[in-house]
Amino acid sequence: MNKPEGNVFAPETLVDPFDYYRAVHDAGIAIEHLPEMNTYVVYSYDLCSEATTKPEIFSNDFSSLMGREEDEEIQAILAEGWPDEQTLLTADHPVHTRNRKLVNLAFSAPRVNAIEADMRAKSIELIEAMAEKGEAEFVEEFAIPLPVAMIAQQIGLDNDPKQVKYWSDAAVDRFSQMVDRERKLECARSFVEYQKYMKSKIDDRRANGGDDLLTDLVEARVEGETPLTDPEIMSIMQQFMVAGNETTTSTIAGCLLQLIRNPDQMEKAKAAAGGRDPKLIMNMIEEALRYETPTAGMWRIVKQDTELGGVSMPAGTVVQLRYAAANRDPKKFENPDTFDIERSNARAHLAFGKGPHMCVGNMLSRKEMLVAFDELLERLDNFAIADEDGIRILPNILLRGVTRLPITFTRKA
Ligand code: HEM
Repeated sequence: MNKPEGNVFAPETLVDPFDYYRAVHDAGIAIEHLPEMNTYVVYSYDLCSEATTKPEIFSNDFSSLMGREEDEEIQAILAEGWPDEQTLLTADHPVHTRNRKLVNLAFSAPRVNAIEADMRAKSIELIEAMAEKGEAEFVEEFAIPLPVAMIAQQIGLDNDPKQVKYWSDAAVDRFSQMVDRERKLECARSFVEYQKYMKSKIDDRRANGGDDLLTDLVEARVEGETPLTDPEIMSIMQQFMVAGNETTTSTIAGCLLQLIRNPDQMEKAKAAAGGRDPKLIMNMIEEALRYETPTAGMWRIVKQDTELGGVSMPAGTVVQLRYAAANRDPKKFENPDTFDIERSNARAHLAFGKGPHMCVGNMLSRKEMLVAFDELLERLDNFAIADEDGIRILPNILLRGVTRLPITFTRKA
């Protein structure tokens, strides 16, 4: 087993990791140990799947990775808000199980269907705003504003979606820990500002009711479980903002980029859009999720001495499940580096994770992307890249996606 050249977390590999993943799979390396980080990176589809279904061993309580906030000025800012509860993504059983039962109620099929009409209206509005220009920076003008508007509406900020993007970016920076102190201070202020805003909305929904996800969360009741507290709702809503925005943006932008790069696939997709073959458009979204995998990796902490794929891992070991590499595993996906919208097992991807922490927003984002492409490919045509050098991919250690995509197009006759 020859180790491939380079390092999975080197900046140039994070931007373009696919040669590295291919080399890892070709060499039969299912798990790589990075001693300098005391971390094991899991590349194989089967082993990523196995770890996600053993949450009692591979824990999601990775808030400890962020370390305790030592800076007194930051502590003082955070003290003006509410406790930063660990919920959903960063919680284990039994907290996670209780959260998930209550949150699943809010993400019901009727709620998602009710949002569909708004997704379509917003998609059309954004397409029409760029249609006559014949050119656009697609991320800025479509792939960001669509998911941001949807979440903004669901948390009572529909008159100010920019605020959602601002809070969401601050939360990502706070979590990534890769920013300077000035930005850390700004992020802490932004977090408390967000909490105060959310508290006023929670109080409002409790008193007056409403018709959005926030109201569903405030009202969620499950027999035998205590309702969600205000700080829990604040934390969960923040996860919706963060987990739901950048990932959906990346998939929409990445999917369009792959369609432009693969004209035969674009032709098939165009023939299916506009409600003619929604199953194929849905499969295309699954393939885009597999191919692009915006949540490239996710942490787990080993709770008790164990082994995975024959590799011993003592308690305390940090593991990163590299979903993006698992989705290019040739043992699971034939010709994994080919973007094929008719791939028969595209939906088996791990882009939403698997097991108890599998993405709670998957139905919502799937629907959003389906609607987006149904309208985009029906209203616009002749998509091309306006400026290859203008394409930007700005990854971090967990997320990867296209952040700038200058395109040209025509309005469909
Ligand atoms: C293309 C879009 C999306 C992708 C690729 C994505 C990806 C993921 C992944 C990989 C996980 C599992 C993390 C793990 O293994 O620990 C996850 C969990 C989660 N996602 Fe998503 N997500 C997307 C959209 C959304 C949306 C729209 C929302 C909410 C509005 C959302 C909210 C969440 C939450 C709250 C969790 C934590 C669930 C739990 O731990 O029980 N995501 N997501």
